[in-house]
Amino acid sequence: MSTYAKGLEGIIAAETNMSWIDGTKGILEYVGINIDELAQKSTFEETVYLLWNGKLPKINELDEFTRELRSHYRIPDVMKERIARIPKEVEPMHMLRTLISELSFYDPNPNDNDVASARQKAIRVLGQAPTLVAAFDRSRKGLELVEPDTELGFSQNFLYMLNGKKPTDTMAKAFDICMITHADHGLNNSTFAARVVISTLSDVYSALTAAVGSLRGPLHGGANEGVMKMLNEIPTIEDVEPYIMNKLKNKERIMGFGHRVYKAKDPRAKELQKLAKQLAEDTGNSDLFLKSKKIEEIMEREVASKGIYPNVDFYSATTYHCIGLQLDLFTPMFAMSRLGGWSGHIIEQLSDNRLFRPKAQFVGEHNVPYIPIQER
Ligand code: SDX
Repeated sequence: MSTYAKGLEGIIAAETNMSWIDGTKGILEYVGINIDELAQKSTFEETVYLLWNGKLPKINELDEFTRELRSHYRIPDVMKERIARIPKEVEPMHMLRTLISELSFYDPNPNDNDVASARQKAIRVLGQAPTLVAAFDRSRKGLELVEPDTELGFSQNFLYMLNGKKPTDTMAKAFDICMITHADHGLNNSTFAARVVISTLSDVYSALTAAVGSLRGPLHGGANEGVMKMLNEIPTIEDVEPYIMNKLKNKERIMGFGHRVYKAKDPRAKELQKLAKQLAEDTGNSDLFLKSKKIEEIMEREVASKGIYPNVDFYSATTYHCIGLQLDLFTPMFAMSRLGGWSGHIIEQLSDNRLFRPKAQFVGEHNVPYIPIQER
């Protein structure tokens, strides 16, 4: 007899070699390496190599991976014209979902989904996604597009294309830590979406498009934008307590808190909190960080007993703001990074596939007579 788990809560629906989460202790490991170590010592390129290959690269392997990724920074000219025609009011996550799908038009073999082809498509989309985001942002602002610079790393190059000038090492490193900490996280909703789609032996572009669509939801990756909107709504530190208490009284969700798996503070939130504090002080945004700390103190007092703690989105909002990113680019940042995890899961699914097809429990009536329309 099958059991019904609403939202598949607690159900194991896949096996993975990439990330492991201890929700009780608040631990995250990528291929067995603690996220704190990777955030402090690794780079996004090295982290994606680790996720895709199950081991840290040797120097020559990282050089080759980095060279290959940078060779895919450029987008087809036809897509630059396409971007110029997208209305500037379009939400960047709708743009990204659409254009990742459109990248399949310029792939001579869009449907090849053997593991080698899937990996090739994955590294191409991973390289091109930041260029799509930066090109759209500059286009909607009426600014000249900035061509990618293959001399620059993933994070440096993105900030360069976005702002038209190379970032400081501090900003590039901070952004890279954001990319590392967002890269993979077990079978979260968007990763599950990608695995469900590729399990029909559809194609990588369809699976990634589904994942982007899932991630934009405010209960998932969209929460970082919700956190920033909340911080902007609270005028001063003195207004934090009444604001939060009112929302809790109305049973409203506080964005950036709670998690289906973590019942302790998300280890990524701890890493991002350090970044947010430093960047807020460096950029004159201390009020944002102080409001965030105050929210965390109140939530600790009010709902920690229910296992509700800050998740990855809570401090990423302040971090992205201090790096200079516009609010509606926060979730696209999450997507750019998670393309690494999604692609790894697509490759894992293809390597040991079984079509996802759960059951639905029918709760309606049986043997209902057909009534002719004249008699209804
Ligand atoms: C991400 O899955 C992943 O790994 C996701 C992610 C990743 O890296 O891929 O970690 C990224 O999506 C992080 C989560 C970002 N979302 C938010 O910050 C949105 C706000 N959070 C909530 O909506 C909620 O916490 C979820 C959706 C994240 C998890 O919800 P669950 O597991 O379905 O928990 P639930 O809705 O059953 O809540 C249990 C209780 C409820 O209270 P009661 O009805 O039992 O009294 O906790 C309360 C909820 O009301 N609760 C909250 C809350 N989250 C849960 N109360 C206030 N504020 C919140 N944020």
